[in-house]
Amino acid sequence: MRRELEAYYHAGKPPWDTGVTPPELVAVVEGEGAPPPGRALELGCGTGTNAVYLARHGWEVVAVDLVERAVEQARAKAAAAGTAVRVLWGDATRLDELDVPGRYDLFFDLSCFCAIPPHRRDAYAAGLTRRAAPGARLLMFGYGPGAFDDLISGVTADELSARFAGWELADVTPGTNPVPTFWFTLRRTTG
Ligand SMILES: C[S@@+](CC[C@H](N)C(=O)[O-])C[C@H]1O[C@@H](n2cnc3c(N)ncnc32)[C@H](O)[C@@H]1O
Repeated sequence: MRRELEAYYHAGKPPWDTGVTPPELVAVVEGEGAPPPGRALELGCGTGTNAVYLARHGWEVVAVDLVERAVEQARAKAAAAGTAVRVLWGDATRLDELDVPGRYDLFFDLSCFCAIPPHRRDAYAAGLTRRAAPGARLLMFGYGPGAFDDLISGVTADELSARFAGWELADVTPGTNPVPTFWFTLRRTTG
């Protein structure tokens, strides 16, 4: 999986790297009832478009990606934008190995979790749970099962409810892609 991802970044601009912040994140940050800026952690940040967006809107941002080339590009993007995003090269399922003590008010994941191998997903959930401020929000975009021609990709609302103990699944909104996709919002309820 890591090699495949690296190949995308080394080949040039990966297909998902639109450079556009999704309206679903804009709604959270700028929409009605938007929280005051706090601390945000982005998982699988790619080249950093959304981490920079959050920082520009006053958030203190840490962003993590597994691919070194993506991290380099995200750091360059953050510097060019004059933002202080901390971009870390590492595994979102092994946050204890990184300098990300938390707590965070907002977690953002744009199609990272849905491609993580199932046996690492509980570790991802536990890592976020340990770092979540009371009432923290997780905004996640994920492909549904069967969207890709492999056996591991995909995420469902039921899976998130089962794996994220101490969180409430507050919203599930289907995406507009030709294959099944979803925007999930989870809220930390205890801890
Ligand atoms: C589909 S890309 C999306 C990138 C970025 N969110 C965007 O929308 O441009 C998924 C990203 O997650 C990263 N990723 C996958 N597994 C990861 C893991 N275990 N830890 C950290 N990043 C991971 C990949 O390297 C890739 O940059």
